Amino acid sequence: MSVSISQLAFEHHREALGIAESKPRISWRFEGNAADWEQSSYDIKVRRGRDDGPVSFAYNSSQSLFVPWPGEPLGSTERARVRARAHGNKGKSSTSWSDWVAVETGLLDEDDWAGAVPIASTKSFDRNQPKRPVYFRKPFLVNSKKNGHSAIETARLYITALGLYEAEINGNPVGDRVLAPGWQSYDLRHVYDTYDVTDLVEKGNNAIGIVVGEGWYAGSVFQQPYEEVRRNHYGGTIGPLCVLIVTLKDGTKIEVPTDSSWKAADGPITDSQIYDGEIYDSRLEKPIKGWSTASFKDDKWSAVKELSRPSGTLVPPDGPPVRRIQELEFKEIIKSPSGKTILDFGQNMAGWLKVTVKGPAGTNITLSHAEVLENGELALEPLRRAKARDIIILHDQGEQTWEPKFTSHGFRFAQVDGWPEDTPLTTEAIKGIVVHTDLQRTGWFQCSDELLNKLHSNVIWSMKGNFASIPTDCPQRDERVGWTGDAHVFGPTSNYLFDTSGFWKSWHKDVWLDMQRNNMIVPHWVPVTPPDAKDVITLTPIAVWGDVAVGSPWNLWRAFGDDALLKEQFEQSQAWIETGIPRGEGGLWKEGGFQYADWLAPTSTPTYLVADAYLVGMVDRLANMPDALGYEDLREKYRTQHSELRDTFRGRWINEGRMANTTQTAYALGLYFGLFEDGDLQESAETLKQLVAENDYLIGTGFAGTSIIGYAMNGAGLTDDFYKMLLQTKNPSWLYSVKQNVTTTWERWDSMLPDGSVNPNMMTSFNHYSFGSVADWMHGVIGGLAPGEPGWKRIEISPVPGGGITEAEATFVSGYGEIKTKWSIKDDGFHLDVQVPPNSKAVVTLPGSGKTIDVGSGTHKFHDSDV
Ligand code: BGC
Repeated sequence: MSVSISQLAFEHHREALGIAESKPRISWRFEGNAADWEQSSYDIKVRRGRDDGPVSFAYNSSQSLFVPWPGEPLGSTERARVRARAHGNKGKSSTSWSDWVAVETGLLDEDDWAGAVPIASTKSFDRNQPKRPVYFRKPFLVNSKKNGHSAIETARLYITALGLYEAEINGNPVGDRVLAPGWQSYDLRHVYDTYDVTDLVEKGNNAIGIVVGEGWYAGSVFQQPYEEVRRNHYGGTIGPLCVLIVTLKDGTKIEVPTDSSWKAADGPITDSQIYDGEIYDSRLEKPIKGWSTASFKDDKWSAVKELSRPSGTLVPPDGPPVRRIQELEFKEIIKSPSGKTILDFGQNMAGWLKVTVKGPAGTNITLSHAEVLENGELALEPLRRAKARDIIILHDQGEQTWEPKFTSHGFRFAQVDGWPEDTPLTTEAIKGIVVHTDLQRTGWFQCSDELLNKLHSNVIWSMKGNFASIPTDCPQRDERVGWTGDAHVFGPTSNYLFDTSGFWKSWHKDVWLDMQRNNMIVPHWVPVTPPDAKDVITLTPIAVWGDVAVGSPWNLWRAFGDDALLKEQFEQSQAWIETGIPRGEGGLWKEGGFQYADWLAPTSTPTYLVADAYLVGMVDRLANMPDALGYEDLREKYRTQHSELRDTFRGRWINEGRMANTTQTAYALGLYFGLFEDGDLQESAETLKQLVAENDYLIGTGFAGTSIIGYAMNGAGLTDDFYKMLLQTKNPSWLYSVKQNVTTTWERWDSMLPDGSVNPNMMTSFNHYSFGSVADWMHGVIGGLAPGEPGWKRIEISPVPGGGITEAEATFVSGYGEIKTKWSIKDDGFHLDVQVPPNSKAVVTLPGSGKTIDVGSGTHKFHDSDV
């Protein structure tokens, strides 16, 4: 029976280096199976500055998530180390002290930037063409004016770019982030990153080098109308912005800001675009060999010009960076009917290839990427205008290892053209690099049904494929933008699988900024492109997509229990409901405009029925928020608005207890959002049951209905019927794609048609996460795990077996610690093992019993004879 602190964190940071918060709240997660353990008080020790001893603080509080920062706020670039210890109540044991965990703020004052400005090459270029990446360098001296011998204490690089950057110091890479600084609504909010480069800097002569590619900032990025390709959404010139600050032990500070004293040159990357890929000419490496070292001669490099400071406020990141997460080996080399060499990685993913190769100078290797094959060849149609190919041209200086820097591809298959005879095409020579935001994994699920396990794995891979700085719709075609509806419906699933709190916090800041410049309308995707768009379809208010401004803050609050985050996001929820949505009669949606509604549903439901149902549901969530925030007056206001709107909805869409349209989505929405009169509930449930059965348990929902139909049916006592739908393998169904041996979830139920051909529609992706939102139901109903109180302080454990599944297990790591359920059906009945982490509680409902059992932390075993 033990309890200890396994992780201490600040705000929602995975690593708290260079953060914005000067009073970062502290949370700790427990480990151990101590029974009924609740925290009664806690101690915190803080060490600030170099020599100060720790200062201790003691609090009588059971709070272990987001506790206030003790003592004075941190100053700019100030570092502290913190540890905590928690005491159990009623004579229960205390934890020992946690490890010391460091926290350090970023540049909190404008002056800290030491006059740094973005810089650009003075070489002329055509701003309407793809921009060749530019290499920048600056030699610098590390020496103390006071004392020539003073050693280096710390060195930090604060860096961003108009574009995407990668930095080197003295020939060594700085950190392991890629596609940095990610994508934000740059003109309003521009992220800079902080690196600890103490080990890279030396006394005496040093040099820093930065290469910048156009990225989303100045590259070609999706917009509507689709026919118009527009580049330079945020600016037409690329370049870095940074300050390197080296602090010596005697207190000397050496600052190296980007300014006119830097130099620039072209290098071997001759082209690098998000959609089209990268071209690398290794023969051009020679002139820049050693470019980021002090001894490099840069007299042939050109001067740079200073640009004005970015219009967006410079801010530290809220979530983790994008990294290279995994390396995959290809499974098979395929010779296509036309004689091409195609590698099958066995897994659809987002990222790129790394090659290690040797060959004659000028050998041109082209790597083309695709998600599926059609007639044995790469299916390139679904990529639309994205070329999705990388080209490396070899030097003849021996073996070389290369991977692209400023692009990414969605692929399982890669065609290799021009591979030289000198290198055997082995799994050592070409590797798949999986790239996504480096989120901490928190959720797992498995059960006795292998097809469902495969579906679950596909859901995870589609999340990995699309969580790259922002939540994208897909990673492969010329789109890859933050479609709000997709984010809305997949949110709860994502919050279980990974710690997404910082990721969503960041993206919702852009949602809010993009709303404010568009009369509180949530753009169809965020960051909206072009940022200054006016009067385009992208800015028309639409339900489900725009409703992310309410649904997602609500889901985040339930998942992470952060009141301050809810407070921050409440503004956008309110603004969308109060101002963004055009209201017609009785406060429902004003009809006559455009709606995606139940997008891609096999059976269509009237768009305004969907929009209005979501509106009632969203106002219900909005009315729950003031409770958490203590806004008494608003609670009343939105509760009243909710019940009035529900009445109006009934008047408009329900006639004598029946929905105006008899579709799966209409009934699922009605049941899920509580739109029917109590007296009509049973008949509604019957209608949905019948609808589903008559449809042979095939799914009939699209984006609006898919994430909720399972819960609607569970709530209406139709869990067995939903199991039949979930286990259906014919088209359309979840397992239809799984049966086709695919490894991600699709945009359409039939992205691949039953005859193996690719759906010819111009919107056919094999890596979209929306329909994978059913995984939330798998966690909640099969696994039986759901948050009862925000942040999983109280856990609802109520597995409902069905579908012939004989065992299942779910694990979720909440802010309190690891929660587990594991059940099996044996000859003697139903067995359930449960683990509840310290400082939280659970209420367990055994299947079919309706009776609840309250339990505290620790492990518990149940059998259906218990009720
Ligand atoms: C995207 C979607 C998005 C939709 C809008 C598509 O092009 O890929 O996932 O939500 O448009 O309906």
